[in-house]
Amino acid sequence: MCGIVGYTGDKNCVPVLMNGLTALAYRGYDSAGLAVWEGDSLTLRKAKGKIENLKNLLKESPMSGKSGIGHTRWATHGEPSDINAHPHTDTKKTLAIVHNGIIENYLKIKEMLISHGCVFASETDTEVVAQLLGYLYRGNPLEALKQAVSMLEGSFALAILFADDPKTIYCTCKDSPMVLGHGDNESIVASDIPALLEYTRDVCFMQDRQIAVLKQSGIEFYDEFGVSIQKTPTHIDWDVESAKKGNYEHFMMKEICEEPDTFRRTFEQYVSIKDYTLKSDRFPWNTARAKSFDRLTIVSCGTAYHAGMLGKKFIEHMANLRVDVEIASEFRYGDTMLKNGEPFLVISQSGETADTIAALRRAKELGCETMAVCNVTGSTISREAGSVLYTYAGPEIAVAATKSYLAQIIVLYLSALDLAQKRGEMSQEAVTARLKEMSRVPAAMQKILDNKEQIQFFASRSFAVKHVFFIGRGMDYALAMEAALKLKEISYIHSEAYAAGELKHGTIALIEDGSLVVALATQPQLQAKMASNMEEVRVRGAHVLTVTNGPWEGAKGHSHTQWEIEQMDDTLAPLCAIVPMQLLAYYLAVQKGCPVDQPRNLAKSVTVE
Ligand code: G6P
Repeated sequence: MCGIVGYTGDKNCVPVLMNGLTALAYRGYDSAGLAVWEGDSLTLRKAKGKIENLKNLLKESPMSGKSGIGHTRWATHGEPSDINAHPHTDTKKTLAIVHNGIIENYLKIKEMLISHGCVFASETDTEVVAQLLGYLYRGNPLEALKQAVSMLEGSFALAILFADDPKTIYCTCKDSPMVLGHGDNESIVASDIPALLEYTRDVCFMQDRQIAVLKQSGIEFYDEFGVSIQKTPTHIDWDVESAKKGNYEHFMMKEICEEPDTFRRTFEQYVSIKDYTLKSDRFPWNTARAKSFDRLTIVSCGTAYHAGMLGKKFIEHMANLRVDVEIASEFRYGDTMLKNGEPFLVISQSGETADTIAALRRAKELGCETMAVCNVTGSTISREAGSVLYTYAGPEIAVAATKSYLAQIIVLYLSALDLAQKRGEMSQEAVTARLKEMSRVPAAMQKILDNKEQIQFFASRSFAVKHVFFIGRGMDYALAMEAALKLKEISYIHSEAYAAGELKHGTIALIEDGSLVVALATQPQLQAKMASNMEEVRVRGAHVLTVTNGPWEGAKGHSHTQWEIEQMDDTLAPLCAIVPMQLLAYYLAVQKGCPVDQPRNLAKSVTVE
């Protein structure tokens, strides 16, 4: 979704802002713009489309200055266009503003402003905030901001440059992230960490309705009443390089190739490698509490929801604990059976997904014990959840989640083992044996990555396919959901995931000559059943690609292509089998010439409902 960056310091801010916008481009956008204090006036440049267009505009009409704000807009109110692009100003040009989020009561405020003579240039809710601030401004930016914020409903992150105070950036937010840092004679704000990494890794996260005043010499913070407050910075241990593409053509390929490392890093945070035991205090339940659980509820969105589906299989199978998984946007407005004190887990890579945050808050209101699986230290979810199981995937830039999904399912797998041990479902020896086996998975993944040309070759022959069905049973069905999402989001090929046994209850009507069916068959105890389902689609003209856990002779007559992952414990196989699925999606998308890292209409961090 939209990206914000603001800078004040001793450098020319234009390259800083452009680098920041480029670092945030992965969030998804359809126009970009800058406002810079140039000598004695606010200068704006805005362009529809890619950041490249804004760069070209800046070549034709350069600008420079020591303070400015920039934005990448993902259209909500008003089509993507130069006029609707941010920054926006009030009629008198007393200020320029960039905004993430949605102002829900913007029409009411707009009518009031029109009745007081304001003339609007764009269709955006953001211009309403600009005009409102201009209307309220009487020479004191902080006062105007406090008043304006008290009138706004909805979600917002705002960075503002006032013409009367041109070396200062004012910021505030509600339900939309903002992160700030002070570097060497410079202060910078952005809507996400990657834009700050070049300047500082000690950052402060804004909380709802707080106000930040950025100056070259430092950052002042105020609460919503204008009372000065102190904030302690959080240290981010991501390095600058980890958020760069390096020699890879796409971030997505880089991030898939980082999966063995992500595996080891996350594993070692929760497992003591010297004796292959779980670091049991890293999990948010002790033995008595783990034994007291009757049910665990998991809520999340998108890929994180699919991680929850696989987590359910792990936890139910190993820990004998019932798990309910729900989509956050459904949970937040639906009826709930949750009771006071019940365990409730959200999963989120970014920690900023609006629906997941709302679900977490609802569970807290209901008195649940809240926990989160999260990748970003300091994010809203990591701050608000009762306890956090961090994933150690590092920054993920491609819109399509890959290594973060892997890290989530690793943490869920380890949580299942820990619950199993504490609930008396598995002995210490059995857990240790499983952890030893698990430590071999990264090497098995590496083998797949070293032979990825096989997958590339398959994709080069299959990219014209119109429909792909991913089928599986048990854990493989949960995996199929993520495999199908990966393919459709980056290649735009229609794909569906089906429980293999359910296909014949309707969806098999869609199978025709040339359909591709990917049969995930890593669970030996279910292979005979899978063989029948594969045969059902093969005889109806589908090309069947089977993914197996080690060799499976029985697949031969029923499938046209077979990919084997190295043989491992059945429960571990899904952790490895996701890699060829992500590679298949990647290569099909590349073959089709799709913009792999920034697929159309999608955003990395969905901070609106
Ligand atoms: C968006 C992203 C997905 C992601 C989902 C949930 O839709 O495009 O990749 O899975 O949001 O995001 P979260 O940050 O909460 O995991």
